[in-house]
Amino acid sequence: MIQKCREVFEQKFGAGGEIHGYFSPGRVNLIGEHTDYNGGHVFPCALTIGTYGVARKRADRKLRLYSMNFEQTGVVETSLDALKPGAETLWTRYVKGVIWAFAKKGKQIETGFDFLCLGTIPNGSGLSSSASLEVLTGTILKDLYGFEESMVDVALYSQMAENLYVGVNCGIMDQFAIAMGKKEHAIFLDTATLSYTYAPVKLDGAKIVIGNTNKKRGLGDSKYNERRKECETALKEIGRVKPASSLGSLSEAEFEEVQNAIADPIRRKRARHAVTENQRTIQAVEALSQGDLAAFGRLMDASHISLRDDYEVTGIELDTLVEAAWKQPGVIGARMTGAGFGGCTVSIVRDENVESFLRQVGDIYREKIGYDADFYVVEIGDGPRVLF
Ligand code: GLA
Repeated sequence: MIQKCREVFEQKFGAGGEIHGYFSPGRVNLIGEHTDYNGGHVFPCALTIGTYGVARKRADRKLRLYSMNFEQTGVVETSLDALKPGAETLWTRYVKGVIWAFAKKGKQIETGFDFLCLGTIPNGSGLSSSASLEVLTGTILKDLYGFEESMVDVALYSQMAENLYVGVNCGIMDQFAIAMGKKEHAIFLDTATLSYTYAPVKLDGAKIVIGNTNKKRGLGDSKYNERRKECETALKEIGRVKPASSLGSLSEAEFEEVQNAIADPIRRKRARHAVTENQRTIQAVEALSQGDLAAFGRLMDASHISLRDDYEVTGIELDTLVEAAWKQPGVIGARMTGAGFGGCTVSIVRDENVESFLRQVGDIYREKIGYDADFYVVEIGDGPRVLF
């Protein structure tokens, strides 16, 4: 894959000089959804699919950017002096945003670079193709320009790019999961403190199956920012009766006591999701560490129900895929993953049932929704790396 990228790079930008190759993964979140901007826990893992990149430093201040996923856009040429937050809609904003964020953090680069990428994550599917590209850019900046930022900093600068340059108010989960990914492990991250541990994901005899609804979503035009606002308002209302640093800091019993401080019943449901989902995530990691995969799966199912009924971020496509998954033999757990409103589901399916799962769930989805879902049996992979 990376050799093909290098060939196309040389066709577009010419051979010679010091050319480097990189890879940055995508991610799937196993449980802990819409908790990362509520000071709660998340439990994502990096995937072996992701974004390949090839780059070479230039002697001037130009940036020349090309994506093999957007051939029709061609080479986008710009300058380090023309990076402006909120100014564009092309895929290149993720690359430029990270260069901009590094500069804001005092890590200016004096010369630009030529850049080519190829993503193997379906765009807009909720497997973080954009965060993958951001963290890829951070990895390239570190390698080409010798910055000694930690990978946690790369995650934070990438989130800053997404928040301030791209204009999507996302939490830290995606960028962190990608930057800190570890083969065969998921990351149990406390988003209030950024403390984390790696938990081995041993699915003896089962696989992680992603279902893509093929309903495109962009966080910017979804109700993501609205949900964030609802949670912030709910926290303020709770603050009038009990000091709380975040919704994630509350136990379910504490929430029960104060929930009536939230005036609007819809906002109360949103806050309840943030609180219960955080507790489910803590319990799920505990269950996994005890080898109780069945309990882990039940918590995944409960997570989906909460996202469907309390947080209301699922929709007919995700619900159809998940509810069809629940009915299949050998399914340990299934839920939507990522922001919702379309995108992907994640299911844990026994090896011997995977084939029939793909067929049956695929048929039910096509029948009800009118077009196909796609499925990927995925593996948990390492974080970003320099390939050459
Ligand atoms: C998106 C955001 C994350 C997180 C999830 C929901 O993926 O980028 O920060 O909020 O949605 O859990």
